Amino acid sequence: MSYTTKKHDELRAQIREWAEREIKPIAFMLDQENRFPGEQIKEFGKMGLLGIPFPKEYGGLGGDILGYAIGVEELSRVDGGTGVILSAHVSLGAYPIYAFGNEDQKQKYLVPLAKGEKLGAFGLTEPNAGSDAGGTETTAELRGDHYILNGEKIFITNGGEADVYVIFAVTTPGIGTKGISAFIVEKGWDGFTFGDHYDKMGIRSSATRQLLFNNVKVPKENLLGKEGEGFKIAMSTLDGGRIGIAAQALGIAQGAYEAAVEYAKEREQFDAPIAQLQAIQFKIAEMATKIRAARLLVYSAAELKENHEPYGMESAMAKKYASDICLEVVNDALQVFGGTGYLKGMEVERFYRDAKICTIYEGTNEIQNVVIASHILGKSAKAKPVSAKPKAKTPVTGPRKKVMINEGTAEANVEKLVELLKNDGYDFTVGIDIDTPIINAERVVSAGKGIGEKENMKLVEDLAKAAGAALGSSRPVAEQLKYVPLNRYVGMSGQKFTGNLYIACGVSGAIQHLKGIKDASTIVAINLNGNAPIFKNADYGIVGDVKEILPLLTKALDTGKKKPAPPMVKMKRTVPDEPTPAPRGRYVCLGCGYEYIPELGDEDGEVNPGTAYKDLPEEWVCPECGEEKHNFIPSSEQ
Ligand code: CAA
Repeated sequence: MSYTTKKHDELRAQIREWAEREIKPIAFMLDQENRFPGEQIKEFGKMGLLGIPFPKEYGGLGGDILGYAIGVEELSRVDGGTGVILSAHVSLGAYPIYAFGNEDQKQKYLVPLAKGEKLGAFGLTEPNAGSDAGGTETTAELRGDHYILNGEKIFITNGGEADVYVIFAVTTPGIGTKGISAFIVEKGWDGFTFGDHYDKMGIRSSATRQLLFNNVKVPKENLLGKEGEGFKIAMSTLDGGRIGIAAQALGIAQGAYEAAVEYAKEREQFDAPIAQLQAIQFKIAEMATKIRAARLLVYSAAELKENHEPYGMESAMAKKYASDICLEVVNDALQVFGGTGYLKGMEVERFYRDAKICTIYEGTNEIQNVVIASHILGKSAKAKPVSAKPKAKTPVTGPRKKVMINEGTAEANVEKLVELLKNDGYDFTVGIDIDTPIINAERVVSAGKGIGEKENMKLVEDLAKAAGAALGSSRPVAEQLKYVPLNRYVGMSGQKFTGNLYIACGVSGAIQHLKGIKDASTIVAINLNGNAPIFKNADYGIVGDVKEILPLLTKALDTGKKKPAPPMVKMKRTVPDEPTPAPRGRYVCLGCGYEYIPELGDEDGEVNPGTAYKDLPEEWVCPECGEEKHNFIPSSEQ
């Protein structure tokens, strides 16, 4: 291939040999056990291969973007999950520090990342900010020489395994993407914790976790770039990241194709290898053609990036095309294998599952089309102008009271909770059987992983009986810990709770769980971690140890033998109105409609961000049309 040199071929041969020896034999087990190949990645790092495209002066291998893409391709050729570990580390974790970091940040963070001593990750996606990455809600507030980081990130590749995270958070609320900044955050800092390793359909050897930030102190010097540059850093990082995902898709397709060719030559039907059948030959020919086209797109995008030429559109095209054809290739490869390919343990079966994510992450393929079209046609007008108003945060479970009961002693808090529930109309002299199917239950008491040891299930069961409720759980409690049968787990993929009262004990509130309880009339959360997302989705919350709170609540609700509950009457949810945000003092130009936003100021007019309209100099004029200051009126978009 014209893009590659002898050096690239040697690098490919080295990585292929290593991947065949170290990853291929264990790929099946990694997939089955949802296991991250920690030792192997360390080894890969020691060979310098976690730093392929970075200069030697920063600990890198001194290779190029194409060499890195070949690395991802070769790992993915044997295991798609291992491929994305390299891609997320290089393009998303290390690259933004290389491109936007200052010298101190590069020495402190890029060098160990490039040397492979540390692993990197990137935290952009949130429950309300997926494709609409500008909807970021995590906040970073400057207090003295630190920012205080609060919020959550979901679906983070290398989450929990990585040591260094590039995290995006809002530093100036209410001004959209220009209020987002990027930070370098280290694993191990106080208040930075991880959710469970998601149980995914494919790429199961790569770790994907939720990141939780609870008042994490981030030193000021860990701001990457300037305040407000975060969104652009994220977008341009993703431009490069998409080359990595394109290479991953290419590698998966290549692995599936090779397996299909080999099998077609071996498998005999109608007295000859099936490779002699034209039906199979055509499939092989099409697979090979698509893979070659994808490879040319991926390598040319890598070359453009290497040469510092514009490559955003080309990387989006490569990512979209390579992942689309990857799905077609794995489908055809499995078809060549027939029934054999459908069996667990077969490489093509794993490739088939690994492939799908490539059309979804680092921007869905629909977002790639948005990016491609905007390069060709310019940015399309947004359906509705983005309001500079801070967006009201709607919890996954819909508007909730979010009353935290933490002022008094544990006893007093529990008493207060019971009083509030009784005021809401809950009658604890009646109850349902603990085994009532979740879907029919008026009340459920649920256990999350936060309850700890299995023996603590007894506390949850006792509470369920005292509350006259059925027993439920989060998915990991049923599936991984096996504390309850599978049919008792509540969530998007499990049983949906649509009754009245849901008491979540030690449940952190993963989005999939929350979606399964969004129709509950009342949600109560009891958890030791005050920053657990469940609290933002609950009507009442007590922060405390389940071992202390549950027995107290059981005692307070225990009215002796319960009368059978009457048929369920669905209770109406009552939630207070959201407070109206304070006016933010924006003014609109009568000449052209330009809006003066105090938080932004006017860079061209040398007006500092934070300057109120009334404090603008009298000689200030509209930066768009030159209209004078007195021809501005207060904006209705306050
Ligand atoms: N480079 C630099 N700046 C860019 C840019 C780019 N590629 N794209 C946009 N910007 C700038 C724009 O110029 C604009 O700045 P100005 O106002 O100064 O002109 C600003 O960013 C806002 O741009 P838009 O108005 O176009 O932004 P938008 O809100 O309409 O969003 C989008 C555009 C393309 C839809 C974007 O939100 C997007 O890419 N969404 C997908 C997010 C994504 O890929 N997430 C993946 C998460 S990571 C992941 O998946 C990792 C993994 O697991 C492996």
